[in-house]
Amino acid sequence: MIKGITALIMAAGTAAVMASPLGLPEVPVPAGNPQSAAKVELGKQLFFDKRLSADGTVSCASCHQPARAFTDGRPTAVGIEGQIGPRNAPTVLNAAYYTSLFHDGRADSLESQALGPLLNPIEHGLKDYQPILTLLRNDPDYRRLFQAAFGEMPEKAKPDHIGKAIASYERTLVCGNTPFDRYLYGGDKSALSKSAQRGLRIFRRKGNCANCHEIGLNHALFTDNRFYNLGVGFDRIKPKFSDFVRVYKQSVAGGASDPAAVYEARDRSELGRFLVTGDVADIGKFRTPTLRNVSLTGPYMHDGSQRTLEDVVEYYNQGGEKNPFLDPGIYPLHLSKQEKTDLINFLRALTNPSCSFSQGVFPRSGN
Ligand code: HEC
Ligand code: HEC
Repeated sequence: MIKGITALIMAAGTAAVMASPLGLPEVPVPAGNPQSAAKVELGKQLFFDKRLSADGTVSCASCHQPARAFTDGRPTAVGIEGQIGPRNAPTVLNAAYYTSLFHDGRADSLESQALGPLLNPIEHGLKDYQPILTLLRNDPDYRRLFQAAFGEMPEKAKPDHIGKAIASYERTLVCGNTPFDRYLYGGDKSALSKSAQRGLRIFRRKGNCANCHEIGLNHALFTDNRFYNLGVGFDRIKPKFSDFVRVYKQSVAGGASDPAAVYEARDRSELGRFLVTGDVADIGKFRTPTLRNVSLTGPYMHDGSQRTLEDVVEYYNQGGEKNPFLDPGIYPLHLSKQEKTDLINFLRALTNPSCSFSQGVFPRSGN
């Protein structure tokens, strides 16, 4: 299905024809960055190119691996020189549908998101975009692709172009048509086992899951693009929480100090959405992630603290982790053993293992 779509895009030279797979809406494309086959190709090469890192060891695909549904299988990501970051690498599949990017929603477009990891000292570790611009200008393959993508000479390349090309590629990474989609939207009542069908009912009712992981009338993103506190990682900010509150009060009273600074980087990460808005009500809130392909994207949660889907369901069943900011939508569920199994079987039906995407080919000497 996906292959067919890509062929269509390539043939038409524009993604105006981008049909979406069963269960997913049309991919939103910003007016300032229309899809084109050439731009997608350029973005794809950049995504897989390790020359886009300080020591030539890391590409976007190091942490977003096609074979793992564009995740890395680790609790938290590992960047250049083996440095371990504070957060779990989320899938890039269907990221095109999010209205904000990153676990805390700090980027508002795929274009701006793509520029973040390149300069992140523990991810690609570049000091500035110059090495990439130089590559675009000097490498014959990139020169050709750049010109085809933007209709300008590579000498004119700016960081903006890098973000646009990568975002265009990411907008082709859509993956639906799962057993769940065939059952609910395709009219195939045999696509889900009886157990998974019961799981869907639990997901919508007793489990309250669909309240945040939304299922629509014609399609399902499994996210409402909002932020919630489930208590994941709260243990890390708890010990210094009174210090945090003291500095926060000072800063509200006109002091210049940053309350988040009472924490080391790893622990600070657990403040979540607060780091973006500075609003106390956002402490420990993270964006609802999609659940599509969730069989392939573990470990789970922003900090990778839940190893399996069984662990996740157990976490919800106990009502999350108690803390002063816990969302009222998270409470003990009292699921029976059978209900837990049904729910997990439903979650497993949200994966389409045939959504495999080919890798880039640059540099030709092997990457
Ligand atoms: C060292 C591992 C690593 C590398 C390299 C990396 N990422 Fe990520 N990526 C992550 C992590 C971790 C997050 C979540 C960070 C956060 O939320 O603070 C993330 C988040 C994202 C998201 C947001 C997904 C969502 O659910 O909001 C996108 C899109 C993305 N990365 C694309 C890229 C692109 C494009 C590149 C290359 C330019 C790249 N990543 C390089 C680890 C990595
Ligand atoms: C109040 C909103 C809300 C409800 C209700 C909710 N979730 Fe979530 N879910 C989230 C948020 C927010 C996250 C991310 C939390 C984090 O990373 O710390 C999440 C994460 C997950 C993850 C991990 C996904 C990943 O890629 O890491 C799974 C699986 C999941 N939820 C399944 C469920 C199930 C099953 C239910 C019902 C029993 C449910 N959720 C109920 C908001 C919700």
